Amino acid sequence: MKIAIGADHGGFHLKEMIRGLVTDLGHEVHDMGCYSMESVDYPDIAKLVCAQVDTGVMDRGILICGTGIGMSMAANRYQHVRAALCHDHYTARMSREHNNANVLCMGERVIGIGVADEIVRIWLEIEFSGGRHLGRIEQFSQC
Ligand code: RB5
Repeated sequence: MKIAIGADHGGFHLKEMIRGLVTDLGHEVHDMGCYSMESVDYPDIAKLVCAQVDTGVMDRGILICGTGIGMSMAANRYQHVRAALCHDHYTARMSREHNNANVLCMGERVIGIGVADEIVRIWLEIEFSGGRHLGRIEQFSQC
């Protein structure tokens, strides 16, 4: 898959690690920044990633900030983005199975790299269940 990744300064170190992992898993990774620990505004990075997912240029996005909260709030402003803030295996799996999440958000200050590594692996592997869940996510467009 084509995957855009991005982080603010609060998620910079985890984003660097995730970029290597996603590349090693065989995906085409597009790193939209940030590229240092210099302070940046997370909505600007969310926009760079989500504009690509929203228009179908990228299949998925991964966004990281300090808590993951700001990134997930910003990401879900984009019409075709279904962003999920995941800090454990169960929510990572369910965000794919039931919600067909196309953007994964995490907080570098919340979880360690081991948990983040497993979340990303699960999230990239699990397929959407469809069925009754499809009708539910289609209702988002009516919100
Ligand atoms: C930056 O300090 C921090 O506010 C940001 O990374 C994120 O946690 C916001 O939700």
